[in-house]
Amino acid sequence: MTDTSRHTDDSLTAIRGELVGFRGDPGSSDRDDCPMLHHHRDGVVLLRGRKILEVGDAERLIPQLDSACTVVDRRGCLVMPGFIDLHVHYPQLDVIASPGRNLLDWLDRYTFPAERRFADPDYARRAAEDFLDELLTHGTTSALVFGTVHRQSVDAFFAAAQARRMRMIAGKVMMDRNCPEDLRDTPERGARETVELIERWQGVDRLGYAITPRFAITSSPDQLSVAGELARRYPDTWVHSHVAENKEEVDWVMKLFPAARSYLDVYEQSGLLRERSVWAHCLWLDREDRLRLAARGGVAAFCPSSNLFLGSGLFDLAAADHAEMRFGVATDVGGGSSFSMLRTLSEAWKVAQLQGQYLSPLRAFYLATRGGATALGLDHRIGSLEAGLEADLVILDPAATALAERRDRAGRSLAERLFVLMMLGDDRSIIETWVDGRRWAGRCPQAARPSHSPR
Ligand code: GUN
Ligand code: ZN
Repeated sequence: MTDTSRHTDDSLTAIRGELVGFRGDPGSSDRDDCPMLHHHRDGVVLLRGRKILEVGDAERLIPQLDSACTVVDRRGCLVMPGFIDLHVHYPQLDVIASPGRNLLDWLDRYTFPAERRFADPDYARRAAEDFLDELLTHGTTSALVFGTVHRQSVDAFFAAAQARRMRMIAGKVMMDRNCPEDLRDTPERGARETVELIERWQGVDRLGYAITPRFAITSSPDQLSVAGELARRYPDTWVHSHVAENKEEVDWVMKLFPAARSYLDVYEQSGLLRERSVWAHCLWLDREDRLRLAARGGVAAFCPSSNLFLGSGLFDLAAADHAEMRFGVATDVGGGSSFSMLRTLSEAWKVAQLQGQYLSPLRAFYLATRGGATALGLDHRIGSLEAGLEADLVILDPAATALAERRDRAGRSLAERLFVLMMLGDDRSIIETWVDGRRWAGRCPQAARPSHSPR
């Protein structure tokens, strides 16, 4: 991969466009004067090397720019923090759009067979590269990622993320039962390989490790408690798993762990529910579970396209808010059917609608950026347009298609225009993705094509 810009690590770059970021959760507000909204209609994000140096109005900043500063003029486009996907499976690139009848059927028929191929390090390397390029094509700069049970799948993933200088968190799946024999580890082997990988990758460049028991069905009580011990021993790592996605899954877990109060309780008893723990789905929780999850500092990954695709259920945003249970949004590819966070937000909106709930477009974009960073405990590094943060950015064309252009022009408020973008947008809306202060020189389809005049 080559870098098209001429940076040394101290070079100055000013990206000019309409800036949209968030200072915090806008809640249900969709007002342009929402205090959580950080908006400059004609603004500049000034980068020095890998970091954001300053953010402000173009009128003030442009005249002050050093003559050595490269100006990237993207007027007519939106400049946002790069998207953050809170739960996704890189080995499921080959599984996306497989018509499983429900979660367990889909795992057996499509997912486990596809994950076998990751025993081959070459296959894993190529898949990791394609996966990361797919994320970048969609404007996603950070993610919390499942590997497979094979440790080489995680080595391949981290090497590819490191080469792209991406902030990525990933882990080797731990699973020792109720899955094909050749995809099983054991509590000892799973722990040994997890420790090796933590020691090799945690905190290296922009990489972080997630202890990753797949779910309570595929881990024995012994394996879950070993994973819990590792979670205590390595408090800076993340914990990443699935909980309460599908009703049959929940019934099976309650048969496997008859003494547990609930599915989530299985994880809590094993010591896995802690700060920096991320729980995909959280559909079939009760109020006690939500309160426990919030009290222990865990967060939920809301995976709307996956939940609709697999017919799993509807994430209850109002109940999550009521319990002050934090959440971010996630594609959950390959259960999810798109890498696009824009399309994921549009599905999130529909999930809310089906329950008579409201997801404001400001909140939707917050969840895809700063909300994801906060969920990972990384909001001091990524997720907003603030001086000192790492320069991961996405540049979006709100008028990428004739229809979008027409509809964007009719938009009255920023919230309305963001709503149109999340309902009509997809990878065609992504003009450029910037990672660690550099424009990604990969295969964004519309590279640098502001096609219309500034508003
Ligand atoms: N539960 C256990 N494994 C998986 C998986 O790969 N995808 C989803 N969506 N749910 C799971
Ligand atoms: Zn998943």
